[in-house]
Order: sequence, then structure tokens, then C-alpha cells
Amino acid sequence: MIIAIDGPSGAGKSTLGRMIAREIRLLYIDTGAMYRAAALAVIESGVGLSDNAAVARVVAQAKIGLEGGPDSLRVMLDGRDVSGEIRTEEVSQASSVISTIPEVRRTLVQCQREMGERAGGVVLDGRDIGTVVFPLADVKFFLSAAPEARAARRFEEDRLKARDRRTFEETLADINTRDQRDSTRDDSPLRKADDAVVIDSTGLSIDEVFERMMEIIRERQEKMS
Ligand code: DC
Repeated sequence: MIIAIDGPSGAGKSTLGRMIAREIRLLYIDTGAMYRAAALAVIESGVGLSDNAAVARVVAQAKIGLEGGPDSLRVMLDGRDVSGEIRTEEVSQASSVISTIPEVRRTLVQCQREMGERAGGVVLDGRDIGTVVFPLADVKFFLSAAPEARAARRFEEDRLKARDRRTFEETLADINTRDQRDSTRDDSPLRKADDAVVIDSTGLSIDEVFERMMEIIRERQEKMS
């Protein structure tokens, strides 16, 4: 079974993707983490983010992988665990910038398809999973929430982890910049697949969204068996 979860930043995709993968014992692939690791490789190489050809070369040479299960996912770059380093605001914005480059997307999409096909069953979250990476996914979700609700979650997460001490307004502005770029780029913009189930999580708890998603997945599992 292939489960695709797309949506803008801060909609709860990765938390829910992990919960679902744990519940039905599937591999979990955080594709955003892969774009983040690619961005970190580019930053560390010293190449300018606007030099598309050089960025694409750095990403093609980088060894990006995910290790561990949904609860202990480690993001690896050239054999190094970069799970913490990829969560800074600098890397967030850089990942959104380099993900507009078609060659970068081609490299990472190919890797995501191989990982998914090898596993047999997988939950992936990102921006283009239901539209481009696995257009024939068995279940597709499009998670959304009001920008203020998404920024509030991100702000709280940052506060708890004592990361990037930014104000709520700065967090909201960063999320809006990224969403605008991610949904207006030419190659595989953030878009709801025609057959995706839309869930607006504004005002819902994570557990409530999880229950809704699991109901849909169980219905689909019954039809498949
Ligand atoms: O999901 P995230 O916030 O960790 O993703 C970081 C950036 O990577 C996001 O701003 C856009 C890009 N991305 C993408 O273009 N396609 C994906 N499937 C996942 C992420």
C-alpha cells in the first residue's frame, strides 16, 4: 500500500505520516527532509543558491538517505546524521529555493520512487507525492490548515526545542514565503491531486485528524483485500 500525504508547511504531515506508518507498519519517507539535506549539502559546498547548474551537480553527488523507523528517523548526508542541522530556518528557506530546480527534483524523485518500490508499502509526505512521485498511490491526502494555525504549531515546536528564537509574526512570514514559492514554481508545484482527500486541520487535534485518516485507510484496505 502506498499512502501519499501532501500539503503546505506546518499542516502536520510528518507527525501524521509517522503515526500512520507506525500504526500499519509501513516504511515512512519524509521527502521534505531529503530536500533539506540537499539544501544543507549546497550551503556547505559554498555554491550560490541561484547557480542552478552547480546546485544540481552538488545534489546529484550528495548521498542522501533516511535510516531508522518512523519514531527514530535519521536523515543522513554523506554518512553523517544531519537530522538536527536540517531544521534551521536557513535550511528551510534554502530547501524551498533549490526545490524549484527541475534537475534537483529529478534526482530526489527517482530516489524516493526507488525507496518506495523496494519497501513494498510506504507512507510518504511532501508536496508532489500524489501528483508526481506516486500518482497511482492507493490513498492520497491533502492536509491543510489556516496559515495562522500552521505558524502557531511551528512557533510552539521551535519554542519547545529552543530552536531559532523568532517571533510568531516572523514564523508566519517565513511560512507564507515558503508556501508561496512552493505552490507557484513551474516544476511540480504544491497542488492537491484530483483524487486526494482534503482534510483541513484548523481547530482539530492531531488525534482527531489521525482518526479521520485511519478510517479512510481502513476502508481502502478492506477494498484491496
Ligand atoms: O516538508 P518540509 O517543510 O520539510 O520541506 C522543505 C522544503 O522542501 C519545502 O519548502 C519544499 C520542498 N519540498 C518539495 O519541493 N517537495 C517535496 N515533496 C517535499 C519538500
